[in-house]
Amino acid sequence: QDAKMGDYAFPCFKLAKVMRKAPPLIAKGIAEGMQDAPLFEKVEQVNAYVNMFISKEEFVKDVVEDVLQKEGEYGKTNIGDGIPVIVEFSSPNIAKPFHIGHIRSTVIGNSIYKIYDAMGYKVTRINHLGDYGTQFGKLIVAYKRWGDRERIEEGKLKELMRIYVKYHDEARHYFKLIEDGDEEATALFSWFKEITLKEVQKIYDRLNVTFDSYAGESFYNDKMQPIVDELKEKGLLKISDGAAIVDLEPYGMPPCLILKKDGSSLYATRDMAAAVYRKKTYDFYKSLYVVAYQQDLHFKQFFKVLELMGKEWAKDLVHVSYGMVSMEDGAMSTRTGKVVLLEDVLDKCVEKARAVIEEKNAALENKDEIARQVGTGAVIFGALYNNKIKDIVFSFDKVLNFDGETCPYVQYTGARCNSVLKKGGAAGAYAVKELTEEEYSLVSLLGNFGEVVKEAGEKYEPSYVTRYAVDLAKAYNRFYISNKIIGSEENVKNFRLALTGAVKTVLENAFRLLGIEIPEKM
Ligand code: ARG
Repeated sequence: QDAKMGDYAFPCFKLAKVMRKAPPLIAKGIAEGMQDAPLFEKVEQVNAYVNMFISKEEFVKDVVEDVLQKEGEYGKTNIGDGIPVIVEFSSPNIAKPFHIGHIRSTVIGNSIYKIYDAMGYKVTRINHLGDYGTQFGKLIVAYKRWGDRERIEEGKLKELMRIYVKYHDEARHYFKLIEDGDEEATALFSWFKEITLKEVQKIYDRLNVTFDSYAGESFYNDKMQPIVDELKEKGLLKISDGAAIVDLEPYGMPPCLILKKDGSSLYATRDMAAAVYRKKTYDFYKSLYVVAYQQDLHFKQFFKVLELMGKEWAKDLVHVSYGMVSMEDGAMSTRTGKVVLLEDVLDKCVEKARAVIEEKNAALENKDEIARQVGTGAVIFGALYNNKIKDIVFSFDKVLNFDGETCPYVQYTGARCNSVLKKGGAAGAYAVKELTEEEYSLVSLLGNFGEVVKEAGEKYEPSYVTRYAVDLAKAYNRFYISNKIIGSEENVKNFRLALTGAVKTVLENAFRLLGIEIPEKM
């Protein structure tokens, strides 16, 4: 906590048991043994701690040179060694809105993908589209009663949503027709799907998100029977009220529904078929599901059923659960039709960013492009800043505040590094001298980046990277204010330019892991 005490501290309490010695004595022994360690300038014992001061010159040069040499590769590791990992994320529903709530799964999942990729895993991104279920029956009923093909082609998803809200009980009947392969019903189903996907694709393009597979729920239609058979064979299936269930009472959970009364399949059954299929196809080491916490129980249930079926890999399925997003100006709900579409939020945020630019720097070139980068980045950053399990309230003013712990603040710092580098020219050779406090804290942050990425990956927590980027930007600005760069003595100038280049690279690398761009100029 206190840099004056050293750069690293090693507590010896745990060793006391093993070594049957008082912790301070152990610390003393370790400190003495480390007196000649080349990496350290000083190693001392203070009570139960071994405090280590690294030799700054070595360390500083190592870190800065490492960043400048590796550039975009800096922070990457090969911890994963090509082992397959699946990240399932986004997974919107056909004919339902892609709303502000979906953005969290999309950007958290995308960032987790990038983090695992940077750790050397072989990652497959899956979009488990909600393209099956009684909602299609409902939609067909709605279409038959109030739908108009031309109006739908024109009004798109919004129009589909409008008629969807008017569904009827007959819906179940039509869904059964889809399941039975009825020609008219399946054709309508495909058309609804196509319309939704086209719109959803536009959003993915804006967020620069891609998928390796769009195998949604309907993909598993012909893969569920073997699951049902296996459950029967293993004596796990019970009939209750005409439906087939797996009793989970011994595990303190309500039963998992496998088949409805009319024999049609359920959400959980498809998820089990999907998990089995993915294990077979990708032989994953871990399979992550980036889905909101409302579905905690669903995942616990079907993970448990797979375990009861004897799938030893069920332990490798991870529900990466996250909190809700609401808008500052009131709650949102699909039922009342008062939804906030992500597309509208992106548009508005870009527009507002454009206005801020106009106000702060009207002479800037490429204002539209920069407003796009800032506005889009602000929406992504807003969804990734907090610990993922926390509910968040989205506020345009907050995400676009240039002085807060925000996306524009970090972007602005990146652009500032750029302009320093442009003015200062290429950094010549330098020898590391006595560092100022601001310089040193920058270097130690830079040196931490790989560790931050690794921890973010292990905890499925992109917010570690987001916060790291803010800390690095803050440290750079503190440095910038009190350490003259251009106009300093040659050696100092060169070092500070090199440091600036390294900060710029690491800010970019961190933001790349979040899916956010940094403008050249701002
Ligand atoms: N389509 C679902 C929804 O929007 C999310 C799918 C989650 N993934 C899964 N494998 N069940 O609520």
